[in-house]
Amino acid sequence: MLNKQGFDLWANDYDRTVQLSEENNEYPFAGYKEILKGIFNEAMQKEGSAILDIGFGTGVLSAKLYEHGHSVDGIDFSEEMIAIAQEKMPEARLLQWDITNGLPEAIADSSYDSIISTYALHHLTDAEKTVFIENLLARLKPDGKIYIGDIAFRTREDLAKCRLDSIAYWDEDEFYFAYDEFEKSVAGLCRSEFHPVSHCGGVIILSKLS
Ligand SMILES: C[S@@+](CC[C@H](N)C(=O)[O-])C[C@H]1O[C@@H](n2cnc3c(N)ncnc32)[C@H](O)[C@@H]1O
Repeated sequence: MLNKQGFDLWANDYDRTVQLSEENNEYPFAGYKEILKGIFNEAMQKEGSAILDIGFGTGVLSAKLYEHGHSVDGIDFSEEMIAIAQEKMPEARLLQWDITNGLPEAIADSSYDSIISTYALHHLTDAEKTVFIENLLARLKPDGKIYIGDIAFRTREDLAKCRLDSIAYWDEDEFYFAYDEFEKSVAGLCRSEFHPVSHCGGVIILSKLS
């Protein structure tokens, strides 16, 4: 798994390597564009909304929303990623923060229409994901939604199959979503749905229990 320095080094080349994997329909980024497009379309439903992007990277998704008049806050631990994204979104509040420590105090009084996170939450263990999502739900407006686009599978068996098919590239240090297990872990916290997009990626949508 990459640490902060690893992402700093990857920042300038990030968009190109993602595109290659996406175009070849390969793990890990098969379905990337469709996943981001789906989340973009959902977040666009409300005009001028407040958005929080967790692990925004080069800002591929949040910069598009920013260009369409949404207000963007973001969290990422890589200063190189932040520098690239900030150039695209000069007025966005982009915070350098490691999400393994939860959420930063700076957003404790903020609430969001959409909390988006693409290809970042697999850096948390499954137990950490549940705690983190509980923290995110507290920052969500009553009718807001959390959109997670990531390497994700319907079941642990599907995940194991993809691992075998991609064994040469598989990152053993990352924690991909097995939705059958994830759904149970957040059932007492929120409503959830899963939309598979490719053989290794999909979108999870979370909303508050009413
Ligand atoms: C694979 S990139 C995804 C970037 C972007 N969201 C996208 O879809 O292209 C993962 C991003 O999460 C950030 N990240 C990874 N682990 C993190 C952590 N523990 N705390 C904060 N940011 C983290 C990295 O710096 C990187 O920008």
